[in-house]
Amino acid sequence: MKHLQVIWGKLSLSFRVMVGVGLVMALVGVLLITNIVRSDIKMEREQFSQRTGELLDSIRISISEMAVVGDYTTIRQMLRTRVTDSMLDKISWVDPSGNVISEELQGELLVAPKWFQELVGISPIMESEAIEVGGTSYGAITVNANPTYVINRLYDRFIFGLVTTVAALSIMFAMIVSITSNALRPLKSMVAAARRIETGDYSVRIEPGGSREVREAISSFNSMAAKVNSLLALQRKLAGRMEEVREEQNKSIARELHDSLGGNLTMIKHGLDTLATEAGRDHECQPKIQSLLALSESTLQLARGLTSALRPSMLDSLGVMPTLQWYAKEFSRMTGISCHMELCQGVTCPKNNETAIFRIVQEALTNVARHANASRVSIQACLEDDHLVLEIADNGVGLPSQQTANGETRSLGVISMRERAQYMQGKLDISSAPGYGTTITLTVPVNQRGTA
Ligand SMILES: Nc1ncnc2c1ncn2[C@@H]1O[C@H](COP(=O)(O)OP(=O)(O)OP(=O)(O)O)[C@@H](O)[C@H]1O
Ligand SMILES: [Mg+2]
Repeated sequence: MKHLQVIWGKLSLSFRVMVGVGLVMALVGVLLITNIVRSDIKMEREQFSQRTGELLDSIRISISEMAVVGDYTTIRQMLRTRVTDSMLDKISWVDPSGNVISEELQGELLVAPKWFQELVGISPIMESEAIEVGGTSYGAITVNANPTYVINRLYDRFIFGLVTTVAALSIMFAMIVSITSNALRPLKSMVAAARRIETGDYSVRIEPGGSREVREAISSFNSMAAKVNSLLALQRKLAGRMEEVREEQNKSIARELHDSLGGNLTMIKHGLDTLATEAGRDHECQPKIQSLLALSESTLQLARGLTSALRPSMLDSLGVMPTLQWYAKEFSRMTGISCHMELCQGVTCPKNNETAIFRIVQEALTNVARHANASRVSIQACLEDDHLVLEIADNGVGLPSQQTANGETRSLGVISMRERAQYMQGKLDISSAPGYGTTITLTVPVNQRGTA
């Protein structure tokens, strides 16, 4: 039973409606036909013996009237007419002298099948009556009534009832199925629309239709999708604005580090250089000055490193592609992972998306260094159908198996890469197979002049 419930639960609603309605219709049909046939049979059964009795009576009266005057020819004619016109198969009259006058007809062929004959249950009747007029006996009359005619007529009515009931029920069934499937059709579009929303297409809307309730559900669904869409647009705008603010901050900190700290440290270094020259061969001062010189040099390097990490200055001066080529070399030098960048011909990038593209590649390379255990990573930037396609592929361990290509992750790196891609109206795909490395593909639309 539980098994059946599980299977039933898995069937689609329209199929369940069809099966349910079909069963109810079949039941109604069977009850209807059974009822009609049963009352018909009951009536015919009662009338069959009653009619036989009535026929016997009327024949007896006719014979007695004619027998009194000895009109045997007319009696024979009358018997022939009766046997032709009625349901009687045979009528026999034995006159007072023992002569038998009988009329017989080949009974009608039984059309109804045996089971129907048994269902009707009417048996042939044979009835006899003595004929007496004014105390004188005129013999006896016997009639044989055959129910074949009645059974055939009942069977014809049964077939007609069956055909009309099945036809009527089929029309009703077709109407109910068409009404329910029309009513359910908008639900199917809602499911399809929800699936598209699941894949990130929030622009999807459902054509209003169906019953009032369904139209209300569609309108709620559409306004929900519109709200989610506008919230996401707002979120993207905010994320973009935050990105701009962060980059501005990075820029100004990098400028301060470069101008103030870098400038001051350079001055200190120069001062120490002068001091070292003036101190000459002072054995006490010289080592202290030299160690201060080394310290200021390493602090200067540190400041340069920080400046570049916050925002490589060449991003503003040379653009993203040369910066990425420089960054790839730096990455190789720092991590020991071979990193090669290939640029297809004519690839350029506009100023407003350069930082986002640089940050995406930066995070992808950081992930390679942190998680991939790779020995090689390649970066390729090409133009394909008005799109800048940037591919970062490593030969590392690949993503952990529970993390699907475009699935959810709780860490922020991949999320912010995706957000940056969306902000540029582009998309980010991650493909990976355990043991076969990871490939990140960034696709960003580029306008006619070749700018993303
Ligand atoms: N190139 C790669 N090779 C193997 N696994 C990777 C690669 N890039 C990302 N991953 C896996 O994807 C996960 C999510 O990366 P993501 O950058 O979002 O987070 P994270 O690097 O762990 O932390 P953070 O938020 O600091 O970036 C990582 O924890 C890692 O398991
Ligand atoms: Mg990361």
